[in-house]
Amino acid sequence: MFREKCIVEDNRKVAPGHWVMRLGSRAISKNARPGQFVQILCADTCDPLLPRPFSFLTADSKSFSVLYQVIGKGTHLLSLLKKGEALSITGPFGNGFLSTAGDRPSTFALVGGGVGIPPLFHLAQGLLRQKKIKASQVQVFLGARHKALLLCEKEFKKLGVKLSVATNDGSKGKKGFVTEILEDFLRSADISRTGIYTCGPSPMLKTVCALCEKYGVEGEVSVEEPMACGFGACLGCAIKVKKTGGHRFAIACTEGPVFSAKEILWD
Ligand code: FES
Repeated sequence: MFREKCIVEDNRKVAPGHWVMRLGSRAISKNARPGQFVQILCADTCDPLLPRPFSFLTADSKSFSVLYQVIGKGTHLLSLLKKGEALSITGPFGNGFLSTAGDRPSTFALVGGGVGIPPLFHLAQGLLRQKKIKASQVQVFLGARHKALLLCEKEFKKLGVKLSVATNDGSKGKKGFVTEILEDFLRSADISRTGIYTCGPSPMLKTVCALCEKYGVEGEVSVEEPMACGFGACLGCAIKVKKTGGHRFAIACTEGPVFSAKEILWD
């Protein structure tokens, strides 16, 4: 893990209330894996005091980017930053997707909603960099309340992956939830060697886990818990997971944020 002063290279609005910031980096970017995250200190002052967690949207040898929603003082301050300004950033944190050993699926179903979509874009890019995986093996399902809030759609199209979208109001794609188009796929396709990778709001993740169980598919779930420290110190990111004979609390920032769909207890 590294702490760096990263220089803002670009910071632009990409959807109502959503921004993408690209930052120059020497060490964090080189070590970033899809599903991992950074902690960004949004101001040099004590307000806000705590850093904010953001997953990677992209990362290469010299820079990385994050896609963030402006929802409070910290993210508002980020949205005001201009090219050339500096931020104190620590990371990468967490395990990331595809951290476990074992057979890889032949079809990668990526299911995202809201600001859970960026790490899946990073994952899709990472998969396609592995020469053995073709774009036709990556099936992406994106969900949003309205078409204006559908994140990364153009970027996924450029990758050439298979893409299905759902919006709650029917303004784009199927009217309904992203989990409905996922279930349409699970019902109709050969899913014998499919793996599901998901990130987004908890109700969506809970439904994806239920679908993994119903259709007998392996799933990796990146949880979006509040993360104050990122080091396992504050215990604010604990989630309930199964353990032989009962349950325990797992620390999402150090043991996750990616967990097996079979592990998480949603009650
Ligand atoms: Fe503090 Fe995980 S964020 S323990």
